[in-house]
Amino acid sequence: MSISIRPATTADVEAIHVLLGDYASEGQLLARSTDEICEHLSNFVVAEREGAVRGCGSLEVFTEDLGEVRSLAVRPGEHGHGHGRLMVQELEIKARRLGLTRLMALTYVPGFFRKLGYRIVAMEALPEKVFGVCVTCPKFDHCDEIAMEKQLGSS
Ligand SMILES: CC(C)(COP(=O)(O)OP(=O)(O)OC[C@H]1O[C@@H](n2cnc3c(N)ncnc32)[C@H](O)[C@@H]1OP(=O)(O)O)[C@@H](O)C(=O)NCCC(=O)NCCS
Repeated sequence: MSISIRPATTADVEAIHVLLGDYASEGQLLARSTDEICEHLSNFVVAEREGAVRGCGSLEVFTEDLGEVRSLAVRPGEHGHGHGRLMVQELEIKARRLGLTRLMALTYVPGFFRKLGYRIVAMEALPEKVFGVCVTCPKFDHCDEIAMEKQLGSS
């Protein structure tokens, strides 16, 4: 199965919007509007196979050292073929290039991130995220996501 990971373009905005919206309606991800996707488009990568977008993911920079893997989703029916792993690996390369030394994720799928070298951390270990962004989230005072983090090596 030949999967390619590439930077998202404006032609991908609608596909990303639909993909995230489907999971958001199930409460698995936060929805992002097309305006928000456009505004952060340079953060996004997409996974493509046979000319179609199968997944998306983004890298958000919080501080000089900390970034977040965000809006990571693979189309239903395409899970388990490596799209998610390849996108996270690409986001890690991008993060290192930017000078970040650690990446975090807030997730309901800790098993997936554990496979990629992330470990569970206390939410309080991520003050930049919690106090910078989460305060505006409707789930702020009853967040049930699991905080995970990975220290980025040089390779
Ligand atoms: C989580 C998600 C992105 C994973 O993408 P994927 O393409 O199915 O994952 P991969 O095929 O790259 O899997 C990589 C490894 O993680 C494992 N894995 C995948 N999903 C897993 C899960 N939910 N629990 C435990 N392990 C999982 C795979 O078995 C594989 O392990 P292996 O290398 O030993 O075979 C995808 O399932 C998804 O879109 N889920 C819904 C949205 C979501 O929850 N996104 C995460 C938001 S933080």
